[in-house]
Amino acid sequence: MKETIDFGVIGCGLMGREFASASLRWLHLKGGIPRPRIIAACDTVEENLNWFRQDPDTRYFYRDHREMLESPEVEAVYCAVPHFLHAKVYGDVIRAGKHLLGEKPFGMDQAACLEIEQAMAENPDAFVRCTSEFPYYPAVQQMVSWYREGRFGKIIEVRSAVKHSSDMDINKPINWKRTVAANGAYGCMGDLGIHALHLPFRLGLMPRTVSAVLANLVRARRDAATGEWKPCETWDNALLLCEGENPAGDRFPMAFEMKRMAPGCANTVEYEIYGMEMSARFSTDDPNALRYTVSHGQEQAWARLPVGQKTLYPVITGGIFEFGFSDSLLQMLAAYVSELRGLPCPFGCLTPREARKSHELLTAALTAYETGRAVTLPPTEPDRWNAAPPDAESTRSCEASASGCRSAVPGSC
Ligand SMILES: NC(=O)c1ccc[n+]([C@@H]2O[C@H](COP(=O)([O-])OP(=O)(O)OC[C@H]3O[C@@H](n4cnc5c(N)ncnc54)[C@H](O)[C@@H]3O)[C@@H](O)[C@H]2O)c1
Repeated sequence: MKETIDFGVIGCGLMGREFASASLRWLHLKGGIPRPRIIAACDTVEENLNWFRQDPDTRYFYRDHREMLESPEVEAVYCAVPHFLHAKVYGDVIRAGKHLLGEKPFGMDQAACLEIEQAMAENPDAFVRCTSEFPYYPAVQQMVSWYREGRFGKIIEVRSAVKHSSDMDINKPINWKRTVAANGAYGCMGDLGIHALHLPFRLGLMPRTVSAVLANLVRARRDAATGEWKPCETWDNALLLCEGENPAGDRFPMAFEMKRMAPGCANTVEYEIYGMEMSARFSTDDPNALRYTVSHGQEQAWARLPVGQKTLYPVITGGIFEFGFSDSLLQMLAAYVSELRGLPCPFGCLTPREARKSHELLTAALTAYETGRAVTLPPTEPDRWNAAPPDAESTRSCEASASGCRSAVPGSC
């Protein structure tokens, strides 16, 4: 571990702490990737701020993010605040000349996303990305490699899903994620959408139309402090059916499921690509493996490939061991700092343009549900999408690539 990048964290709740934990687990990564060192933390709640006092790197504590942004020592900021604050806080970070890794959905709505873009236009030197960790599972990256190699052939169908179950507990108290004021009108789509969209968007599998069915299944929840019933206004579940297209000119159905109430799930993320030559599907229920079809003449059988720890950024863990959620965050952060420093990054974090496309889709989904009609999305300029990223060569340059290594650090596998 040579270089460090000095970070501030704004929002020291669930995800702020995950970021801190990953930054202190950097020894896990091989290859000298610069380590995010959290020197400053900011939260409006003292108790949440205090949690960061355990982090040996954190020296500065703030209640107001604007004070943190005055510090010349902070080079980059990770922001994990409620959705209604994204436009204001992300804009302030970018205008202060800091690099930003912002949590999804990158603005509470389309207008907020455009406000963040305005700040980027005013300070184009800021390196800005949005989080999305699930594509970093090695089995998903195997799917990415196969797609980029053209192994699927003509695309038949694409599906992705995020299925939570914690809201199945109707006694779970209300929090900001269940109010339109703090979470936005998208409801579960804002909360979960990017997790479903990053992978297909990055592969150039883009929706061109959308129909939607939305459900608000639990309409009131108790306030944890007072016990009072409060309206639970946000959409719990969303099913989006799209016509998709890719740069090869294929047109195919795309289905996106974003569910807060999915019986039998925990936080299940699924990616499925069906093609004329091959199909593959991944689920976090079986995080170590990728299922894919093997053809026998006219018939296809599903096979299960255990992938283990063949990570994008090499780690000390043996290749046969299982990969999990916190590993995916570590990989995502390695991708962010690598891209920030111009190091190889075969699969980067969600870009602002991809975030904009996600807002176009989710806004159109709200209209589609309200009107009961399919909505056509603004066209996607093909050259703006990463069917193959400019830096894909760096992965291919790995000497061991013939053995299936996808390492971002040539020669390190
Ligand atoms: N990538 C993922 O897997 C994932 C998972 C959950 C949440 N998220 C995203 O992370 C973000 C935060 O969600 P969370 O679950 O961590 O929420 P949380 O409620 O646990 O944490 C939010 C924190 O922000 C603080 N905060 C509120 N206003 C603030 C302000 N003005 N300045 C500084 N701090 C302030 C709160 O006190 C709280 O500590 C959201 O954008 C959410 O969509 C991402």
